[in-house]
Amino acid sequence: MVYTESDKRYRRYTITSALPYANGPVHIGHLAGVYVPADVYARYLRLQGEEVLFIGGSDEHGVPITIKARKEGCTPQDIVDRYHKIIKDSFEGLGISFDVYSRTSGKTHAETSAAFFKKLYDEGKFIEKESEQYYDTEAHQFLADRYITGTCPHCGNEHAYGDQCEACGTSLAATDLINPKSTLSGSKPVLRNTRHWFLPLDRDEQWLRQWILEEHRSDWKTNVYGQCKSWIDAGLQPRAVTRDLDWGVKVPIEGAEGKVLYVWFDAPIGYISFTKELKGDSWEQWWKADDTKLVHFIGKDNIVFHCIIFPAMLKAEGSYILPANVPANEFLNLEGDKISTSRNWAVWLHEYLADLPGKQDVLRYTLCSNAPETKDNDFTWKDFQLKNNSELVAILGNFVNRTVVLTHKYYGGQVPERGELTEADQAVIDSLRQAPERIGRAIETYRLREALAEMMNVARMGNKYLTDNEPWKSIKTDPEHTATVINLSLQICASLATLCQPFMPFTSEKLQQMLGTEVCPWSEAGRDNTLMAGHQLHEAVLLFDKIDDSVIEAQVAKLEATKQQNALNAWQPAEVKANVSIDDFGRLDLRVGTVTECHKVPKADKLLQFSIDDGTGMRTIVSGIAKYYPNPEQLVGRQVCFVANFAPRKLKGVESQGMILSVADKDGSLALLEPDRLVANGCNIG
Ligand code: 2FM
Ligand code: ZN
Repeated sequence: MVYTESDKRYRRYTITSALPYANGPVHIGHLAGVYVPADVYARYLRLQGEEVLFIGGSDEHGVPITIKARKEGCTPQDIVDRYHKIIKDSFEGLGISFDVYSRTSGKTHAETSAAFFKKLYDEGKFIEKESEQYYDTEAHQFLADRYITGTCPHCGNEHAYGDQCEACGTSLAATDLINPKSTLSGSKPVLRNTRHWFLPLDRDEQWLRQWILEEHRSDWKTNVYGQCKSWIDAGLQPRAVTRDLDWGVKVPIEGAEGKVLYVWFDAPIGYISFTKELKGDSWEQWWKADDTKLVHFIGKDNIVFHCIIFPAMLKAEGSYILPANVPANEFLNLEGDKISTSRNWAVWLHEYLADLPGKQDVLRYTLCSNAPETKDNDFTWKDFQLKNNSELVAILGNFVNRTVVLTHKYYGGQVPERGELTEADQAVIDSLRQAPERIGRAIETYRLREALAEMMNVARMGNKYLTDNEPWKSIKTDPEHTATVINLSLQICASLATLCQPFMPFTSEKLQQMLGTEVCPWSEAGRDNTLMAGHQLHEAVLLFDKIDDSVIEAQVAKLEATKQQNALNAWQPAEVKANVSIDDFGRLDLRVGTVTECHKVPKADKLLQFSIDDGTGMRTIVSGIAKYYPNPEQLVGRQVCFVANFAPRKLKGVESQGMILSVADKDGSLALLEPDRLVANGCNIG
């Protein structure tokens, strides 16, 4: 039985989680924002005995997938097949308990979304408009905005896209670009007329205002409410729901050849198609019954689509319920920097599972306790280690371990009989009884960080109870009360097996094994007599292990390598300096000489001391390239180029008579210049 008054009228819950694009794996940002919260919510409601349908799946349409396929020289289907599998497997690995995880390239989805469009079309719910759009006359196709690049009219960036300039962040229309170019053929696109179907959102303003801004003023999250309000206040515009593209669900009407449904039209219908796939004929009650609660878990970039556009589609269709809540989260950053797929700045779930096997719950815990519920938040590996070592190991793991080990030590692993209760014992029982409701209310209102903290408080209480009572001492002086303390501690452990299950299902499983019990209904999880006296426990196992510095260092090093790779990718030759005259150049005396001796300058890590035969005698030059030439003696015999007329100067006590010429590579490393055949020492360079 749920605790929140307004939820008591619901008989079932349809819980959706945003469908990730199948053009890359999922990362911790996706998990913290959408999938971990949705999974906690779904698992909790199941423990409450509610009927739950938790829906996920891959979003397999849209232009980015076609662009990736083109880049890799394969088909869009190849791309989505690859990533759908990676994503699905990794969700499973993390214990995300979808009832269905399907994909929008499936047959049922094509039929469902086409039928949805057709119904709206037949009932005159769309407006049809002709507009001019860029067309590639060499590739013979209309161009999606992402297939057009050109110069940004705002900042002059020559590589702006038809929908956005990534240099200055401005949203653009393709026709804003200066010198537009098709990325398909490289040719200059031309404007041609094309016909599209639009959802006239301007006509929805009134009911949307009433429904969101009045009815959901207090139960939708402030960030969600605020975004909706600014969209509505700015005035809603008709939105095109079709595109000229050959990847997607074909527009199911005559005269629409070469057109597909806009990905944001078909994707949310995926939630419905997947319900049909799973539930067959009984699918409708999950979408049409008034006693069904529909909840969309999404990230903040999806708010307008789930709060305004999809509800407008459902309303236009006429037979669907609307979402009761859309608990969108903000974004998670990684080590202080925005997570970015294109810059590979992410912790990818499938890599995490491979690198840290058996540590699913540590990630779930860290992400849930850091969930960006009200503002953007940061994930750091140091914090991850701290959460594991100082919270999971030191609080939850420690409490359970102490309790089970003591039970084995004093009572042969059997739950001891309880004696008379002290006030302190009674206080523990009272607090335990209240825990399920406290945690439950927080989950029902999407305050999952708070819910998780409350769950950990139960373990904290257990730890304090043991520490206060010191059963390892009292066993000698007061065996009867010691038995009570262990009995109650075991009841707390049994409660935790249920209370931690939504957040940490793998830990719950381990705990159930150890205690020889199963999870109980949520409403009974605060009971003080779950484990009967005499019940036999299994061996104590550690719920969590400490994570060593070396594990964290390896992950940080991986990110450091990404940073370096990004710097290399972003490298461009420096701008050419202002012109100089031939006379300016002539004042420099550049020459060739042969290295006769070379060694490190003592007490100076970076410096090499060269003796150079410059054709007239020997000269000494000190150069800061030691890092790149670890065996300086190997340079003996090689010719180098140097500036011969710099005034001598002392470096670490050695007089340097010139400068050896080198080139700085894009990673900052230095390489010496050398003539490409042997020349006489002292020859001029020019
Ligand atoms: O932003 C995204 O990743 C989208 N693929 C989410 C789609 S959610 C739903 F509408 F399918
Ligand atoms: Zn710009």
